[in-house]
Amino acid sequence: MEAKKRPVIELQDTVVTFKRNQGTITALDHVSLAIEPGEIYGIIGYSGAGKSTLIRVINHLQVPTSGKVIVNGQALDDLDQRQFQKARKKIGMIFQHFNLMNSRTVLNNVEFPLLGEKLSKTERREKALALLKLVELEELAEAFPDQLSGGQKQRVAIARALANNPDILVSDEATSALDPKTTLSILKLLQSLNQQLGLTIVLITHEIQVIQTICHRVAVMEAGQIIEQGKVAEVFMRPKKQLTREFIDTSINVQEALNRIRQSNLQDLYLLKFIGETTNQAVVTEMAQKFQVAANILFANVDQVDHLTVGIMILNLSGSEVSASVEYLRQQGVEVEVIKKEVHSHE
Ligand SMILES: Nc1ncnc2c1ncn2[C@@H]1O[C@H](COP(=O)(O)OP(=O)(O)O)[C@@H](O)[C@H]1O
Ligand SMILES: [Mg+2]
Repeated sequence: MEAKKRPVIELQDTVVTFKRNQGTITALDHVSLAIEPGEIYGIIGYSGAGKSTLIRVINHLQVPTSGKVIVNGQALDDLDQRQFQKARKKIGMIFQHFNLMNSRTVLNNVEFPLLGEKLSKTERREKALALLKLVELEELAEAFPDQLSGGQKQRVAIARALANNPDILVSDEATSALDPKTTLSILKLLQSLNQQLGLTIVLITHEIQVIQTICHRVAVMEAGQIIEQGKVAEVFMRPKKQLTREFIDTSINVQEALNRIRQSNLQDLYLLKFIGETTNQAVVTEMAQKFQVAANILFANVDQVDHLTVGIMILNLSGSEVSASVEYLRQQGVEVEVIKKEVHSHE
């Protein structure tokens, strides 16, 4: 029998409030979550949702007003000063603005967290060089941060965050200042670190593409609460909350297409969602052969989400068997949403 993995990060009913002017503001409103070792856990929400506060609670920079925070099996309250320092080192952090020291070389930036360790100068240098190799930046060891691109700076920051062999890497909008191509290369690096080192990654973002590219599970935050969470592919297919839908729609540009299509005078519009094995085209083709129906594909987008294929299609259906053909699609495991439907007096 396989033992259930113990979560590496656990929040139990965590609340954080701040005093502001006369009132108080609730940055975390009874948040509970459990992150498994080796997981890439994404947290998405708009600005002000409480994401950074959640991160600060996890890395012990913020003491919760109430509730428990357990990291690596240790509750913050139970730690003395020395244990606390040690626990903090096991959590690496990267940020949107890299926070590198511009007067030090790349190598010195990476060596910095090792200065307090019992290492010889040579050992420290070797360790830092090995980390730079890991992020594919060895040849820039003697460069200064100002000479680097945004993507390279973030690689240095990642190497530095890994200096103390953390179990957990926390990323607070680490790709938000980068262009899409560089974002992807940083995400691929995080993914390979997750796989190579078994590093647990908590990834905060306001961009659903980031979640979609590398996260295993996702939590959606709004007004200090986690309003929805689950496996990425499942949340993508069956979002429960309006806010989640909004995020997903922006990712596949479906909203833009919908607005455009709605303005046309086409009737009987359907939104189809496919997941996993089902190949979109084949099901639609079969449907058109089986029924008296013409299917006009107005929009289609296929994407990889957490190893699954997720396809979205907007169809205009016409003919005498529209209802039966929609029923058929549903039987094939396709989710069908009616966007617009003409009232047919004869049906
Ligand atoms: N130190 C603080 N003092 C007062 N209010 C704060 C503090 N930190 C965060 N807040 C407030 O808590 C809410 C959540 O902030 P934050 O966690 O930074 O959100 P996010 O990272 O999702 O943008 C915001 O309304 C913010 O203004
Ligand atoms: Mg923030």
